[in-house]
Amino acid sequence: MSQKVTRRQFLNYSLMGVGSFMAAGMILPMGRMALDPLFQDDSEGSMITTSVTIDEITEEPMQVDFTFEQEDAWYTSEVTDFAWVYKEGDEIIAFSPVCKHLGCTVTWAADDNNPERFFCPCHNGLYEKNGENVPGTPPTGPLDQFEVGESDGFLTIGQVFPNELV
Ligand code: FES
Repeated sequence: MSQKVTRRQFLNYSLMGVGSFMAAGMILPMGRMALDPLFQDDSEGSMITTSVTIDEITEEPMQVDFTFEQEDAWYTSEVTDFAWVYKEGDEIIAFSPVCKHLGCTVTWAADDNNPERFFCPCHNGLYEKNGENVPGTPPTGPLDQFEVGESDGFLTIGQVFPNELV
């Protein structure tokens, strides 16, 4: 015995099918964007080799540039950043140049009145050589540090982390 499908039932089934298809089209990409970082290989956070040799680094902070690939959803771009790097005895120290006040870029010894300090020109922020923010200037915390290492005599730079020298 055959069952007849009414016009109303046919329209209901059609609309449910189209609606499900459209919902899947919206929800699946959103789900992937939300979960994608969880499944990314952590080796991306590995060290970046710079063009500066360990021997070149002195007790005077120097600017060391490095380049890495940054993924933003499905778009990958090449980003250039830099660190302030110096030697303290045998230890190599690398600071992020990002000011802890409002994110401007700090420079070493750029203020004539503070030749042994990091200086932020945006609001006259000051930091000691160990990254500690100078009281009475706008920054509210010390400069972050970068992980450092060596590869075939060259300096490598890794993840940023909160200052451990202060
Ligand atoms: S952003 Fe550096 S002092 Fe304000």
